[in-house]
Formats: sequence, C-alpha cells, structure tokens
Amino acid sequence: MDRIRIVGGRPLSGTIPISGAKNATLPLMIASLLTGETLVLDNVPRLADVGLLQRILGNHGVDVMVGGKRAGETADHGQTLHISAAHIVDTTAPYELVSKMRASFWVIAPLVARMGEARVSMPGGCAIGTRPVDLLIMAIERLGAKIDIEGGYVIAQAPHGLKGGEIVFPKVTVGGTHTAIMAAALANGTTVIENAAREPEIADVADCLNKMGARISGAGTSRIVVEGVARLGGARHNVLPDRIETGTYAMAVAMAGGDVLLQNARPELLQAALEVLQMAGAAVVSSNQGIRIARNGSALAPVEVTTAPFPAFPTDLQAQLMALMTRANGTSCIVETIFENRFMHVQELVRLGARIQLEGEKATIEGVERLQGAPVMATDLRASVSLVIAALAAEGETIVNRVYHLDRGFERLEDKLGRCGATIERLAG
Ligand code: EPZ
Repeated sequence: MDRIRIVGGRPLSGTIPISGAKNATLPLMIASLLTGETLVLDNVPRLADVGLLQRILGNHGVDVMVGGKRAGETADHGQTLHISAAHIVDTTAPYELVSKMRASFWVIAPLVARMGEARVSMPGGCAIGTRPVDLLIMAIERLGAKIDIEGGYVIAQAPHGLKGGEIVFPKVTVGGTHTAIMAAALANGTTVIENAAREPEIADVADCLNKMGARISGAGTSRIVVEGVARLGGARHNVLPDRIETGTYAMAVAMAGGDVLLQNARPELLQAALEVLQMAGAAVVSSNQGIRIARNGSALAPVEVTTAPFPAFPTDLQAQLMALMTRANGTSCIVETIFENRFMHVQELVRLGARIQLEGEKATIEGVERLQGAPVMATDLRASVSLVIAALAAEGETIVNRVYHLDRGFERLEDKLGRCGATIERLAG
C-alpha cells in the first residue's frame, strides 16, 4: 500500500489549480442514467471514486468514453467524460460495488424513474457514522415506488412510472436531495421537496438536468420544485470547482505559512470556511483568478466552530480545521453535528504531539508550540488529509499510511503541494 512521506517546516508559495468537485461529479455521472442520449462532463477530476463509479455504471450497461488530451492541455485540466446510457441492460447494483462507495446507492433513483425497477445493495457500514439510507428510500416511496428489502438489497418498483408528490425531509440530507431530484425529474406531475439540502453541488446537478430538459426550480434553496417530464436529452456540462479541495489547501497554507493562489476556486462556495480562516489569522483575497491565501509570521488564533449543512461550516473540512488549530495560540473548540463518528483523526494528531480532548460531539484543541513528525494511519478521506496538513508544520519526517483513502478524493495531492515547496513524496507499495 502506498504511503506518503512529508518533512515539515517549509512555507508554501505558488499556485495550486483546483480540480472539479468530487461531490458534484458523482451525482452528475449517476444522472446520466436518466437519458438514452449522451451526457458530456468537462472538468472531471481523476479520482479513484470516479474510476469506481465508471465501473458501477458500466455494470448497468453504460458506456463511458474518456476524451483524449486537447492541444494546450496539461495535467491541471480536468478530464472530459462522454457518458451514454442508451442501453440499460441490468438494473441491479451489486453489493461488491456499492459497498466500496456509498454514493453509488443513489443509482436507485434514475433506474426506478426511467426503467421502472431497481435492485440496489444497501451500502453497509462506514468509518464516520452509521449513515442509513432511510430518507433516500422514503423519497422514492413518496413518489409512488413500491419498496421491498430482501437479502441486503432495496428493491424499488414503479412499472407505470413515478408520480409527482411532496417530500419533506426531517433532516437535511445531500444524498436524499439528489435522489429526490433525479427521481422527480421523470415523474408524472410536480414534486415539491421541503427542507432540501442547499449544498452547491445540488444546484450544479439541477443546472445540468435542466440543460437535459428537466424543469427544476429552487435548487440551492431549501424548497425545490420539480415538474416531471416524459424524457430527458443529452447535454454538456462543466463540473464546478471543488470547495472542499479549496478549503483543504487554504488550511494547508495557513498551517505551513506562505502565500498561494488557489486557481479556479470560487469564494461563494465556501464562505463560512474562509471567514473562519480569516478569524484564525490568514489573509484571504479573492479575484477572478481564484482565492489567494497567505500567512506570514502572524500567530494562529483559536476559533470556535460547529459543523452544519451549507451554508454553514462543512463537516468535510472539520478534520482539516482541527489539524490547523493544533498550532493555534490558545484553545479552540469544534463541534461535529453531521456524523457521529468523525473524530478518527484525533488520536493520529495526538501521535504528532497535538493536545485534543473529546467529549461526545465536541473536541477541545489546546494549541501547542510544536508538532513532531511520526508514522500515522489514515482512516477516511478527510481524516487522511488532516494528517498531511499537520505534517506540513511538524518537525522532521511523517509517514502517512493507507493513502488510498486520500486518492479517493484528492487529485495529485503530492504534486500540487510539492510544486509550492512542500517536501512531500509518495512511497509506492
Ligand atoms: C454527502 O454525503 C457527501 N458525500 C459527504 O462527503 C458529506 O459529508 C455529506 O454529504 C454532508 O455534507 C457525497 O456528496 C458523495 P447526508 P451524504 O445524507 O449524502 C443522515 C466526503 O468526504 N442520514 O447529507 O451521505 C446521515 O447519517 C463525503 O466527500 C440519515 O439519517 O450525507 C448524516 O448524519 C463524506 N438518513 C446526515 O443525515 C438518510 O437516509 C447527513 O447525511 C440519509 C442521511
């Protein structure tokens, strides 16, 4: 298994190109199942999760063609996928595939909406929490699907198609909102979704579906209205920049010190995180090129943050912020309200010399003068990158093990940080 070796203590300077968003790419690729025509996605990141989803869609009969390099393009350019679900030959998503990536459970919506049936494995356990799918099932049931659970599979049937209806989510769920929108897009009649997730990736998917001929309004707000249509066509769509990758590198610069331009980043996608960074003492300057982050010599100030659905501070940046606060000049407090087990990085940060107390969903971080390099273990995608951020400021060498977690969601991380002066390398196998 690959590992990453980092020697800390060097400031970062230069430019980091921000890739397309993983959490928009996955639902966009799944949305291709709603049409028999070709969906072309530009600015797609080269990630393990994207590759795995290609396999999952292929299992249903979907052809995915990766566009070749164009003149003037570099590795910083995203890839282009030409996705055609003209022939869906299998409406089963097997356990072997779904268990590897939870978001693949979302195929249930376009399959039952377009094909009238779907048999999808329940995703199973996850390191960061129980993560049930009851609200996703509720959403398609509200649109008339008959649901059975058998042998660990959810069987959804709607032989005469889905019907428009009202879906009220008791709690905000990103996956539930994606599922509801995709199912409602081909339903007969109008669907109203209340207490919908407002994450930017929801609006990006709705924008693409509207290009395919859907009639979705209100995406990005908590009330979404979908007027179902009989069929959807093809379209071409550019995936929005990854706000979690943006926030991650912004925290890395604040941690190591230096001055870096996060190219293509859009400040409105992560306003809450940028405000926290400014409170912590980093300079944040937005322009049409992206977002410039700098911290030169000023001490890091402690912060108090609670994670919550967009537009509040995202849970997917919680671990990265915790790493940053291990060096703050005082005591910080972070409350995690989305996932009940998202503190797996704490003991690994403590191995680097951090002082962190946990009490239920609250973490108290007492800033320390110095961190010291050590071997550490990645446990999930965002926890693993928090260890990289801490290692950038730690004295000596850190070895991050199990970096396959990182590869799921960060494209060419060691190349992007290395270009800005970090001492970082991948140790193969
Ligand atoms: C999406 O997961 C993201 N994944 C997650 O990012 C992100 O952390 C999460 O939204 C919250 O922002 C993708 O977009 C692929 P939820 P999702 O449904 O949709 C509970 C990353 O690091 N819930 O909004 O699975 C659930 O347990 C990943 O990129 C139910 O109870 O999250 C959680 O406590 C990690 N029943 C809360 O709702 C349900 O049926 C929010 O989960 C569904 C969810």
